Amino acid sequence: MGKDVIIACDFASKEEVLSFLDKFQGRKPYVKIGMELFYAAGPEIVKEIKARGHKIFLDLKLHDIPNTVKKAMHVLSSLDVDMCNLHASGTVAMMEAALEGLVRPDGTRPLLIAVTQLTSTSQERMESDLLIKEPLDQVVLHYASCAKKAGLDGVVCSPLEAGTVHSHCGKDFLTVTPGVRFADGDIGDQVRVTTPAKAKEIGSDYIVVGRPITAAADPVAAYERCVKEFCD
Ligand code: C5P
Repeated sequence: MGKDVIIACDFASKEEVLSFLDKFQGRKPYVKIGMELFYAAGPEIVKEIKARGHKIFLDLKLHDIPNTVKKAMHVLSSLDVDMCNLHASGTVAMMEAALEGLVRPDGTRPLLIAVTQLTSTSQERMESDLLIKEPLDQVVLHYASCAKKAGLDGVVCSPLEAGTVHSHCGKDFLTVTPGVRFADGDIGDQVRVTTPAKAKEIGSDYIVVGRPITAAADPVAAYERCVKEFCD
C-alpha cells in the first residue's frame, strides 16, 4: 500500500472547498471530508469532489447500534468514497456490521478504519468520564486489536503511536495519522505533533494534514513539501 498525504478539507461551504481545490490545477490530492463540510454541503459535495478525480476519506466517525451503522455505511459506500471510519468503542459487533454494510454489489468496498481514543481525550478524562482505568496507550492498542479482529483495515492514531500499532497488529494494518506539522510551522491546537518526515520514519501509512496546507500562503507548495517529506 503506497504512502499518501490526505488534505483535511475543513471548510464550511462547497464554494470554499472547490475554490481551494481549484488551486491544485492538474494535481488531484487525496481529500478528507469531515463532519463540518458534510453536514453543511451534503452528499453532493462528496460526489462532486469524486467526479473531479480525487480520492476521498469520509471522516464521519460513526457510532451507533450495529444495524444502524451497517445501513448507514451502505449509503456512504454508494457515494464511492475510498475510505471511511467509525469509533472502535462501538464494539467488535458494530465494526463487523459496518464492514458488511460497506460491500458494494460488485464486491468492492472503501477502506474502513477505526478511531481508537480521540487525541483530545486525556488519561484523566478517560478515567473520570469513561471509567476506563487502563493506561491510554494500552487502551489504544486494545481498540486497534479489536478493529483488526473485526476485519477492519486500520486505525486513526497519532503518528507517534504508528510504530507500536504496527508491531501489535502487523505492518499491513493501516495507520492514518493526523497531528502533523512542519518543523518550522505553527502547532495550533494540536498537542502531540510530528513532522511529515518523522511520521514516515515511524511508519505512518497516510498522514492527514489540514491547516499547515489549507492556511498556508501557498497551499500547493505546502502540499508538495508534505509529499516530498513523506512519500519520496
Ligand atoms: O488542521 P490539522 O492539521 O490539525 O487537521 C487535522 C485533521 O485531522 C482535522 O480534520 C481533525 O479533525 C482531524 N483529527 C485530528 N485528531 C484526531 C482525529 C482527527 O486532528 N485524533
